[in-house]
Amino acid sequence: MCGIVGYIGEKQAYPILIKGLKRLEYRGYDSAGIAILNGELNTFKKIGKVSELEEYVKDKNINGNIGIAHTRWATHGEPNDINAHPHNSQSKNIAIIHNGIIENYSIIKDELIKRGYKFSSETDSEVLAYLIEDILKNVKNDLAEAVRIALNQVIGAYAIAVISKNEPDKLIVAKKGSPLVIGIGKGEFFIASDATPIVEYTKDVVYLNDFEFAVIKKNEELDIRTISNKRQTPYIQRLELELSQLEKGGYEHFMLKEIYEQPRSIRDCMRGRINAEEDFVILGGISDYEQKLINAKRIIIIACGTSWHAGLVGEYMLEDIARIPVEVEYASEFRYKNPIIYEDDIVIAISQSGETADTLEAIEIAKTRGATILGICNVVGSSIARATHAGSYTHAGPEIGVASTKAFTAQITILALLSLSLAQKKGTIKKSRFHQLLNELTNIPKLVEETLKTDDVILKIAKIFSNARNFLYLGRGYNFPVALEGALKLKEISYIHAEGYPAAEMKHGPIALIDQEMPTVVIATNRGTYEKVISNIQEIKARKGIIIAIVTKGDKAVKELADYVIEIPETEEMFVPLLATIPLQLLSYHIAVIRNCNVDQPRNLAKSVTVE
Ligand code: G6P
Repeated sequence: MCGIVGYIGEKQAYPILIKGLKRLEYRGYDSAGIAILNGELNTFKKIGKVSELEEYVKDKNINGNIGIAHTRWATHGEPNDINAHPHNSQSKNIAIIHNGIIENYSIIKDELIKRGYKFSSETDSEVLAYLIEDILKNVKNDLAEAVRIALNQVIGAYAIAVISKNEPDKLIVAKKGSPLVIGIGKGEFFIASDATPIVEYTKDVVYLNDFEFAVIKKNEELDIRTISNKRQTPYIQRLELELSQLEKGGYEHFMLKEIYEQPRSIRDCMRGRINAEEDFVILGGISDYEQKLINAKRIIIIACGTSWHAGLVGEYMLEDIARIPVEVEYASEFRYKNPIIYEDDIVIAISQSGETADTLEAIEIAKTRGATILGICNVVGSSIARATHAGSYTHAGPEIGVASTKAFTAQITILALLSLSLAQKKGTIKKSRFHQLLNELTNIPKLVEETLKTDDVILKIAKIFSNARNFLYLGRGYNFPVALEGALKLKEISYIHAEGYPAAEMKHGPIALIDQEMPTVVIATNRGTYEKVISNIQEIKARKGIIIAIVTKGDKAVKELADYVIEIPETEEMFVPLLATIPLQLLSYHIAVIRNCNVDQPRNLAKSVTVE
């Protein structure tokens, strides 16, 4: 789970590489490094953020037109200068950057140690650099060929870039499991883990496929082959990404910008997919699989983290109106539990990044058992988007803050559209009700705008509770996943322990924690199990607990009981998660800022988890 970037051309490589690393820092930020060819091979690495590397190389020789750079999120070996990438081969002639995990590295390492090699780091990636060098010496004195032979020996996942002092005219990249994109400029090339470091230089890109490698030389055509040496024709795609989408646009943090973008991102997600006049929903990306969906006896949703929470909201929606049984599984559990999958099952994989390793692997398992796999991804062209049979993009735009916000509400929007469309086609919903719900969904972006106006009230509450040690989040029905997501957001960015629970389950355990110190956030909107939630609030008050309640505008009953209230606009029960989530995002944001936490890059987390 790291970010890699590279350049070959006429320009100075360093400024491109360092800027690229900053764009990729969301993928990992415990150490960073850079290697540049300039007659010599100069490698510089530093524990800490990219800015620390920048400081460190100020007085170093960073000239050169070919280079590679890496920002790391440690898997093998603690974060320090030595374990940081790039890794050099023993002779220091070769430098490699790697995102992924070489699973059989210790076997290869032992073999190389027997042959007299001495390793300096604890990483699996250094082993690959040494292996390439060993092959160059003993088997084939050609860098591209040595890389290809080495890759045939490794098991695991990788996106790599390799340069060598002895063949200074080329940059070699390869991919399996981890993402890698090549940007094609005028006689120059850019490589990166995603398109964000590339977009300001070129919009023409090639996404490398698994088991492919490319030999990249300036002013020459791309030479792409499979690792079994079959030449491939590069498939050049045009990026739709705009540079302005990657900047903070006046906000203090990306997370705040992304929270405030939600009226637009939800609108973008629905754009072209709703025909309110003629009363229908069209999800073009999955229309070929419509009949299968209608006939499906079961839908299995697989995802991780926040995307898993969106899946839970989807379960309530699909079961509620489309009457299809839904199971929501953590991808990491699903892949190892010998799951029962039938050929007429529909598996929906949800992923913001489209790169989450567990979700990808779960897809492969479901595929081998014959299920139809649909994807809900945000990143266009991502591995999950390509691994699924069909899917719908969320079109939320790049999400850079590590804690997911606008991607979550966009995922729920797609699931709402899917549920509505299936309910209509299956005839499980009355025409008038369908019409009502569709109209209300169209209105959601406006209601989100209104919900964002609660920010001032939330800031005041955040100031009061920024020193709390524990938080409990409660909700029922559609608001249960919202409670889970609220708790996750707080944990992720403020490091306060928080638990999300179905409100009624509270009395089977968490109620023991309640005292005057612990705030409980209750989502108590006016539909569904409203009365029951009020009883749960009373149970907390009876134990002197503090209640922060998210209520529907105009609410009276909860207001009388709660210590603090946040009012959100009234909407259909099914769409409440799209509104109720927003104050919870803002609450965690403000608490994290008050606590001086790094909101956009919380400790130990990464945005894209490309390792198991
Ligand atoms: C990481 C991120 C979370 C995200 C999860 C799943 O843990 O920090 O924000 O929800 O991965 O990622 P995905 O890209 O598959 O949605």
